[in-house]
Amino acid sequence: MQRQQLLYKGKAKSVYETEDHDFLILHFRDDTSALDGKRIEQLARKGVVNNRFNAFIMQKLSEAGVETHFEKQLSADEVLVKRLDMIPVECVVRNFAAGSIVRRLGLEEGTALTPPTFELFYKDDALGDPMVNESISVALDWATDAQLEEMKVLSHKVNEILTALFDAGDLMLVDFKLEFGVFHDRIVLGDEFSPDGCRIWDKTTKKKLDKDRFRQSLGDVIEGYEEVAKRIGVPLD
Ligand code: TMP
Repeated sequence: MQRQQLLYKGKAKSVYETEDHDFLILHFRDDTSALDGKRIEQLARKGVVNNRFNAFIMQKLSEAGVETHFEKQLSADEVLVKRLDMIPVECVVRNFAAGSIVRRLGLEEGTALTPPTFELFYKDDALGDPMVNESISVALDWATDAQLEEMKVLSHKVNEILTALFDAGDLMLVDFKLEFGVFHDRIVLGDEFSPDGCRIWDKTTKKKLDKDRFRQSLGDVIEGYEEVAKRIGVPLD
């Protein structure tokens, strides 16, 4: 399938229509953003690394019974996906405290969260992706109660599958964000899973190997992503 009209340019990916209404092409760019898009830089190899990483994870999830929008990789930085009607909330699962929960609740970074937590954020850069909850999401017609319950169950299932996968590479899955959409009345996992949207630490040294290297200007951002990819077996070429 070929790229046609540009449908949407996101912060890290561009979305193109194809000749089939049910399918889209995502192009992973090298753009890297923080502060809700207010800081943007190009990092060499990022588009390719994230496309390969995402394809690997989406295939693992699908093998484990989680339906995803992933169809096939079209090139080093492009993937063919199902066109979902996206639900505008981000689902965040946390196993250890980091990022906004540390700031919000004054926790020590790395505090174990048992059982893992589940949070919702409204997808709106201008508002800084504010935290919301189920009743707000239903009242504003973003999703039904049943859809939100399914998103929660699926998010915890993804956490179980991926915690085991990263653990085998001596890595801690600290937290992650998922986005879901509706495809022919089914809730399907969309967007991407890459080190841009999760936190991954080395189990022993607690070294950060995810986008916090960019947010916190720690350097070697893509080297961190590649290290994770190597340890979990993502083919990068
Ligand atoms: P947070 O600590 O900033 O709330 O983020 C939790 C995790 O979810 C972290 O791995 C980053 C990811 N995330 C995104 O990728 N995009 C977002 O808009 C949000 C709210 C979180």
